[in-house]
Amino acid sequence: MSNKIGKDILHAAQILRDGELVGIPTETVYGLAGNALNEISILKIFSAKNRPQFNPLIVHISSIYEMELYAKDIPIAAQKLAREFWPGPLTLILDKKDIISDLITAGSKKLALRVPNHPMALTLLGMLPFPLAAPSANPSGYISPTSAEHVAEQLLGKLKYILDGGNCETGIESTVVGFDDQGNPIVYRKGKITSEQISSVTGLDVLEAKSDKSSQGPGIHGNHYAPKTPFLLGDLEKLIKEHSMQKIGVLSLQKKLDLPETAIHLVLSKEGNLEEAAKNLFSFMRKLDSEKLEIILAEKVPNKGIGIAINDRLERAALKKTV
Ligand code: TXA
Ligand code: MG
Repeated sequence: MSNKIGKDILHAAQILRDGELVGIPTETVYGLAGNALNEISILKIFSAKNRPQFNPLIVHISSIYEMELYAKDIPIAAQKLAREFWPGPLTLILDKKDIISDLITAGSKKLALRVPNHPMALTLLGMLPFPLAAPSANPSGYISPTSAEHVAEQLLGKLKYILDGGNCETGIESTVVGFDDQGNPIVYRKGKITSEQISSVTGLDVLEAKSDKSSQGPGIHGNHYAPKTPFLLGDLEKLIKEHSMQKIGVLSLQKKLDLPETAIHLVLSKEGNLEEAAKNLFSFMRKLDSEKLEIILAEKVPNKGIGIAINDRLERAALKKTV
C-alpha cells in the first residue's frame, strides 16, 4: 500500500498546517480537506476536484461551540438541530461571519457548517487551530468515496495523504438544511437525517428545496453521483428482460432475480436493512462501474428513513443517461 495512506493523525495535521490537502474519513463519506481559513488551500481543493467555483464547500468544525466563530444570527431551529444531531450527518446553512472567505461560499453570504461524527476526524479537528473545508473526495460529478481506497483510486496524485478511517458508517452524504427568512428549515440535500426528524426536533414544517435536478443550485446538480456506465432505474424484472442481450449489472435491495449468466448482481442488504444498504450503496456502484458493463439496472428501495436518501441518490445516478 502506498505510504500516502495511513492512520497517522499527527502527520495529517502537519500537512494541513502546511496548507496542503488530506483525504479524511467522516461517518458519511470521505472528505477532501484543507485549511478553511487559507485561501490557497481552498483553491487547491477546487482544482484537485475539478469543481466549478460556483459550488460552495462545507466547513467542518470540531464541536457545536465553534459554531459562533464562523456563523451569526443563528436561527433557533438551527441551534436545536445542532444540539440534537452534532456530531452527525447534518450540515447547516447559516449566515457567515467575515472570517469565512467568499471562495468557500462561492460568493454567498451563507456558509455550510458541520461537525462530523468520526473519531479520527474529530481528533484531527481538535488538534488544529482552524476548521477544515471539505467537499466529498471524488472528482466533481462522480460517486462519493466511502473508503480510503476509493479516494486513492481517483485523487491520490492530488493529495499529500489519506487518513484511513475504514469504511464510512452512514455511506451517504449529510442532510443539508438551510432556513428561510422566518427561520423555517429547508432541506437542500436528503440524507440520513430525515425531514420528519427535522420537523420533530424543531416543531416546524420542513420545506423541500425545488428538486429541479438540472439546476445548478446547492446539492442538486444533475450530474452528482453518476457512475460512468449508463444507469437505469425502474422495475427490475422488466428492465432485465428488456436488456437480456446486454452485459448487465444489477443493483437491488434483496430480490431473488432471474438473470442472464453474464450478469453481475450485487445485493445491497441480504436482510433488506436500509442502513446497511446505504453503507454499501456507493461502493457497490463503484464496483459495478469498474466491471465494463454495458448497463447497470437498479430499483428503488422502500421510501422510508434513510431509504428516502438512497432513492434520491439512485435517481441522480440514473439522470446521466447515455442510452
Ligand atoms: O457528508 C458530507 O456532507 C460530506 C462530508 C465530507 O462532510 N461532504 C460533502 O460535500 O458532501 P460536498 O461539497 O460534496 O457537498 C456539499 C453540498 C453541495 O451540494 C453544496 O452545493 C452544498 O452542500 N453547500 C455547501 N455550501 C453551501 C452554501 N453556502 N449554501 C448552500 N449550499 C451549500
Ligand atoms: Mg460531493
